[in-house]
Amino acid sequence: MSRFIINGGNRLFGTAKIQGSKNSVLPILAATILAKGESVITNCPDITDVDATVKILRHLGCKVTRTEHTVTVDSTNVDKYDIPDELMREMRSSVVFLGAIIGRMGKASLSTPGGCEIGLRPIDLHLDAIQRFGVNIHEEYAKIEFETVKHLEGTNISLSFPSVGATENIILTACLAKGTTVITNAAREPEISDLADFLNSCGARISGTGEGTVVIEGVEKLHPVQYKVIPDRIVAATYMSAAAMTHGKVRLTNIIPAHIAPVIPIFEEAGCDISVTASTLTVTAPPVLHGIKTVRTMPYPGFPTDMQAPVMAMTTVCSGTSVIIETIFESRYKHVSELLRFGSKIRVDGRMAVIEGVKKLTGAKVIASDLRGGAALVLAGAAAQGSTVIDDVKFIERGYEDICGVLSSLGCDIRAERNTTDGTTAESG
Ligand code: UD1
Repeated sequence: MSRFIINGGNRLFGTAKIQGSKNSVLPILAATILAKGESVITNCPDITDVDATVKILRHLGCKVTRTEHTVTVDSTNVDKYDIPDELMREMRSSVVFLGAIIGRMGKASLSTPGGCEIGLRPIDLHLDAIQRFGVNIHEEYAKIEFETVKHLEGTNISLSFPSVGATENIILTACLAKGTTVITNAAREPEISDLADFLNSCGARISGTGEGTVVIEGVEKLHPVQYKVIPDRIVAATYMSAAAMTHGKVRLTNIIPAHIAPVIPIFEEAGCDISVTASTLTVTAPPVLHGIKTVRTMPYPGFPTDMQAPVMAMTTVCSGTSVIIETIFESRYKHVSELLRFGSKIRVDGRMAVIEGVKKLTGAKVIASDLRGGAALVLAGAAAQGSTVIDDVKFIERGYEDICGVLSSLGCDIRAERNTTDGTTAESG
């Protein structure tokens, strides 16, 4: 088990280059199986969710090579259509392979993804939508089998909720279907536009992403390309929180400011100065942060649920009372019990969290239980006086590339301690 050890309290200063987007790279890598041949995906973050995605691609029959930030996928010889249970469990979002596998093979076999640390996460919207393309679905003993009856037939789908994963799966299934597919109430997240941009560069005909209605005209085939993944807006906003709550000044490079726009007002309300250029953003934090009246997580372009935990960490040291309402996932407050260990004051009532800011946090021994909640603990540790130990950091490493290295370069005293297989420990800065 690996852990992070932080001696907190340093103000963070400097520049951090933002990694490629986790939520873009996973569906784009899955999509490479629709374009037979060798796709080259650049700006891939070096995170364990990409490792898990590469394992699935190799299982399906792809040849995958990887240098630091480039993943090359040769999908010429894809010959499997299942995702083994252990790979499905390793990364719940492997469900985004569903549309790609069906699009390529006409059938698929998956185990039920089940719930996770942040909620039940059902896939009913995915299944209802896939069925409409003329796919039979058979569920038995936690296995789901998909079989196209004749061919994939374009269809009209109206989502009852703008699910990110369901929208991606529909787009992936529709690309090579016969005829036109129209998704109404589609999710509008930038990562969906990135997936569509990748597929369009491969020859797909997708329009309307980023708006509520997406139209996909099916094409005969797709061709492989080289494509660069967009920057990770959630990682960028996490480092904005780090700068804010340590009263520092941090410049982020390699960002798309428009994607970060939904979180900027929160930092401004807290009293931070935010200045933006075409691809950079600088946060300058005041000596005292102000509380945030009420922030509700919403589908894009609302405030992202993925930023709920990192922003909650920030509000623990804001003066006055802040209120957060989580509307997307039903149990995304697992980090609260751990944040309390730093001496913060948080009450949770259902989906609402009320945070009474304290003057200072004190270092604590805590356990990460999910990706963004784990990142919130790193932020609290960076701001707290004294020593913090965070266990189970594997969750954090699913989505943050070298978070210790980035924060160290900004002046945080943080190091990773890893248990090696022989039971000894190894350290990295
Ligand atoms: C994606 C992101 C995740 C982010 C989330 C919301 C990836 C890999 N993951 O997850 O980081 O937190 O979007 O922005 O891109 N729902 C159903 N039935 C369904 C599908 C979803 O009820 O079939 C519910 C979910 O339980 C949840 C809500 O809809 O309450 C949002 O889920 P969704 O937008 O699908 O999120 P994910 O695609 O799982």
